[in-house]
Amino acid sequence: MRQTIETRPFADQQPGTSGLRKKVPHFRQPHYVENFVQSIFDSLEGFEGKTLVVGGDGRYFNAETIQTVLKMAAAAGFGRAVVGRGGVLSTPAASALIRALGAFGGIVLSASHNPGGPDGDFGVKYNVGNGGPAPEKITDAIAARTKTIARYHIWQAPDVDLARLGETALGPLTVEIVDPVTNYQRLMEQLFDFAAIRALFAGGFTMRFDAMSAVTGPYAKAILEGALGAAPGTVINAEPLPDFGGHHPDPNLVHARHLYDLAMSKNAPDLCAASDGDGDRNLVIGRDMFVTPSDSLAILAANAHVAPGYAKGIAGVARSMPTSAAADRVAAKLGVGCYETPTGWKFFGNLLDAGLVTICGEESAGTGSSHVREKDGLWAVLLWLNILAVRRQSVADIVREHWATYGRNFYSRHDYEEVDAAGANALMTALRERLPQLKNQRFGALTIREADDFAYHDPVDGSDSKKQGVRLMFEDGSRIVYRLSGTGTAGATLRIYIERYEPDAARHAIDTQAALADLVALSRDIAGVERHTGRAAPSVVT
Ligand code: G1P
Ligand code: ZN
Repeated sequence: MRQTIETRPFADQQPGTSGLRKKVPHFRQPHYVENFVQSIFDSLEGFEGKTLVVGGDGRYFNAETIQTVLKMAAAAGFGRAVVGRGGVLSTPAASALIRALGAFGGIVLSASHNPGGPDGDFGVKYNVGNGGPAPEKITDAIAARTKTIARYHIWQAPDVDLARLGETALGPLTVEIVDPVTNYQRLMEQLFDFAAIRALFAGGFTMRFDAMSAVTGPYAKAILEGALGAAPGTVINAEPLPDFGGHHPDPNLVHARHLYDLAMSKNAPDLCAASDGDGDRNLVIGRDMFVTPSDSLAILAANAHVAPGYAKGIAGVARSMPTSAAADRVAAKLGVGCYETPTGWKFFGNLLDAGLVTICGEESAGTGSSHVREKDGLWAVLLWLNILAVRRQSVADIVREHWATYGRNFYSRHDYEEVDAAGANALMTALRERLPQLKNQRFGALTIREADDFAYHDPVDGSDSKKQGVRLMFEDGSRIVYRLSGTGTAGATLRIYIERYEPDAARHAIDTQAALADLVALSRDIAGVERHTGRAAPSVVT
């Protein structure tokens, strides 16, 4: 039976670039989830009788929220809900499923790489029919709705058994529980040369994939160990846990340090890789060679044509502004388009839909292509495997060859996490005010050629995004970028991105932090990081 419940708005339900993200106890407030879900439905039109894809990264509170979403979808008038078994779908698999089914949209429950558990993070995001995150027009409407909402509708019915494959009725809604891997695996089989990768593994190639007790485990097991014949045990931490085993499911050099240490050790496998909580990020480390996400994007773009799904070549490359310019050099050499977008995957959607780009990525370990409208961790690993299977070189050799051809973009990101928000905002404001003076200013051997606050004009829908980050561009091509994180859930996070281009191959073996030391010091001085944040050093360096 359809029930209407009276409610009152919450003041803090404006979705950010990754949907609504808060701590679990916050989400647990009575009516909190329902208000947000109803605000989503109230902001959409024409979904009556249509299909909604529903799934999440399996974190704490996932299953309960799925039941709420299903009962509200029934009350709202959706015709069918397609749900990953156990309520689980990786973010890229959800995107793939929305596209494959021609669904109206999807609700994806995730807080990505943030920790889970009863006191961890949770998130709700709405994706549109192209499989990608809702555009600003819709998220703005959702935000507005959350401020006026006075009632929501929910179907009173027992919980759906999420473990049983097949169809059940939830009032007027048909709920179909599907295997979360099947559709995604089929798509990967179309894009990549599975026979060649199978032959690579059969020839003794070794790999370690850390699913970080998060959503990618079942996908990686089925594809790497199942379809591709990687040795059993290749995938570690393969069982998704609601609290990710108490770990931080972020595949970076801090939280996946053991993988880095393994890759640098005597017993290193040929390839180490990992993905994050919801499966959209990736980490790739060869034996003795960490591949920065920015380099990975460039190398994947330069070599994608070896995979069947990209055999005709790529239409173009897009990267987020703070991502290094390594990919730009590849695009220039290939003679294809190159786009610099604000941070956040949603900006790639229009470019992909319009066929302007095929491959896109961010320095934050997100890489993807036109096959879905989210970044895709396992996809990136499979493309690497396909390239390794065809080129028959080590990861390190491929990377070094790439640098020799294009030059090396030394790159590092310094994060100051959970700093006082007022201090962080003051730092950014002060920088913005000083932009005109910073231009042409000299600091020892370094001179700033251009200083601006990045603005983006979307070539497809004509929209403008302003104030996307302060850029200091130096005469030698080096760059310092400052921006505040839009995804943190406590205080503010200041991110400083530092980059230096080095054409001289004789200098490519230098340690990254050493190669960037002068710029790093300068980045702190110019912005007065310690004065504004009280921090003398970053919390995370990647
Ligand atoms: C971070 C990353 C960004 C990514 C986003 C969602 O956002 O930096 O590249 O798109 O997570 O995964 P930020 O916290 O910097 O706003
Ligand atoms: Zn993620």
